[in-house]
Amino acid sequence: MSRIIQISDPHIVAPGALTCGVVDTAAALRGLVQQVNSILPAIGPVDLAVVTGDLTDHGRPEEYDHFREIMSDLQLPYRVVPGNHDVREKLRAAFQDRPWINSGSGPVNWRLDLGSCVVIGLDSSVPGVPYGAFTQETLDWLEDHLVQLQDCPLLLMFHHPPVKTGIVPMDAQNLRDSLALKVLLRGYAGTCRIACGHVHRMLTTSFAGHPLVIAPGSSHAVTLDLRADSPNSLTLEPSGMVLHSLAMPSAEDPDPDYVSQMIPASACEGPYPFEG
Ligand SMILES: [Fe+2]
Ligand SMILES: [Fe+2]
Repeated sequence: MSRIIQISDPHIVAPGALTCGVVDTAAALRGLVQQVNSILPAIGPVDLAVVTGDLTDHGRPEEYDHFREIMSDLQLPYRVVPGNHDVREKLRAAFQDRPWINSGSGPVNWRLDLGSCVVIGLDSSVPGVPYGAFTQETLDWLEDHLVQLQDCPLLLMFHHPPVKTGIVPMDAQNLRDSLALKVLLRGYAGTCRIACGHVHRMLTTSFAGHPLVIAPGSSHAVTLDLRADSPNSLTLEPSGMVLHSLAMPSAEDPDPDYVSQMIPASACEGPYPFEG
């Protein structure tokens, strides 16, 4: 069994500042890190945490320093993929000491082989614009790995969802040109789960025949407004993260259950026994 915690869209700013003037994203991420650490004895072992983009709000070096300082308390190894609020070169510079960060100036893509699955992180960011897209380099890289993996269980993680959510301002910023990705994933014979961020809301749907999960934000949500003229705005709804659990197929269970469950980002009262 492999377990991966997905954290998304922390939008960290410089110490002392508020994101969009109203959200203390640093306090929220600190609380989330504490929450993860406190529940690990009950849900562990967990192999890895992955932050699916928008680590920072403006992609500034001091924001990445702040992000890393907060995440240094997490009692898990973690990896990241860039979002539209990140700046690829600044993100790469901030994590240059991590062996999983590739060199050069191209997309930040990586692969991690765990006991019962493979986790792949893809860079869907496009410099200077809010929408996402994969470069041909990324698509070729993914195709090579899918061929190598054959039918191994796969968790594919990137920032921009290749689907529409009904929230018009966010759908205008989703993953462009997703047909090439769809073709690649339709041909994948193994269990594949797709995990994205960007929308700051928990959503499930499917893409290319595979389940797709969008994680909630770690601090604030995009307002649930499905009208055509919905303004792009945020709300301070309860935030969270997602725990993905994947088991390796076996002779006894060739198609094991795969579970993705939302966990609140901060501690809640309880537990209390059902029978008092
Ligand atoms: Fe975001
Ligand atoms: Fe985003």
